Amino acid sequence: MFKDLREKIKQLKKRRKAIILAHNYQLPEVQDVADYRGDSLELSRIAANTDAKVIVFCGVHFMAETASILCPDKLVIMPDIHSGCPMANMLTAEDLRKLKQRYPQAIVVGYVNTSAEVKAELDICCTSTNAVAVVNALKDKKEIIFVPDKYLADYVSKKTQRKLICWNGFCPTHVKILPEDIKREKKFHPFAKVMVHPECLPSVVALADNVSSTSQMCKFAGESEAKEFIVGTEIGLIYRLKKDNPKKEFYPASEAAVCPNMKRITQEKILFALEELKEEVRVPDNIRRRAKKAIERMFKII
Ligand code: 13P
Ligand code: SF4
Repeated sequence: MFKDLREKIKQLKKRRKAIILAHNYQLPEVQDVADYRGDSLELSRIAANTDAKVIVFCGVHFMAETASILCPDKLVIMPDIHSGCPMANMLTAEDLRKLKQRYPQAIVVGYVNTSAEVKAELDICCTSTNAVAVVNALKDKKEIIFVPDKYLADYVSKKTQRKLICWNGFCPTHVKILPEDIKREKKFHPFAKVMVHPECLPSVVALADNVSSTSQMCKFAGESEAKEFIVGTEIGLIYRLKKDNPKKEFYPASEAAVCPNMKRITQEKILFALEELKEEVRVPDNIRRRAKKAIERMFKII
């Protein structure tokens, strides 16, 4: 059945002049039909540079919005429009405006895991790949607001030695990974390297050999001499890690680290999206222009 679906998706994709982008947490069946897999930064760069007319975005809503912000002339569609990011939903534009009023002198850095309305309120955007570099680039700024992820903020603050004004946001999936999980897996696999996402709890980050974005973890695993890895992020990444490194072993730090929103898209929904050219994600122009500035400032840094 998958073979049949795959063939239909391939043909229709060509006819529609579409590309399929899939985040590293997507289901294997989705990653398998994608033209590109990647982390948030990579996918937004690909979206910004593609010649395709249609972008089928297999990820969560803020990622498709970012693609639409960067290429308003393209049709950006999501095979499941209800795939949201609970962390992004923890901060509204109104919340951020109020925070800015409390710290009128502060420069505002926002994680890409935010809505387009929130991005429009930012001075500069960042992803898990470049958050440290972005804050390091703001050496001349006295006060920095960093939203919405308090754990990413904690990691960045420690790495840059900067005090950050943060928000009480977090990723409900990554906080399920506990230090006990890492210690238990270390006992089972004493030679394994520990890779974790900076959205994890600080007590988990403190136990890691490598703290990075999902695609940076793929790079680290590929280049490392180590043969075994404990993976402290959403478990969907394991599929890609194993596929790219068939001779290496990857163990999830916790089987509980599942992002249900990243699992909503299937091959059937992709085919339907291509047939119907739905659901469109489009950001209103007044918001899009302001949000784009924050993303472009990030691209200038890294
Ligand atoms: P990456 O940019 O590292 O892929 O992270 C996105 C995300 O949502 C992590 O939970
Ligand atoms: Fe959002 Fe967390 Fe899911 Fe990433 S894993 S999309 S941060 S809820």
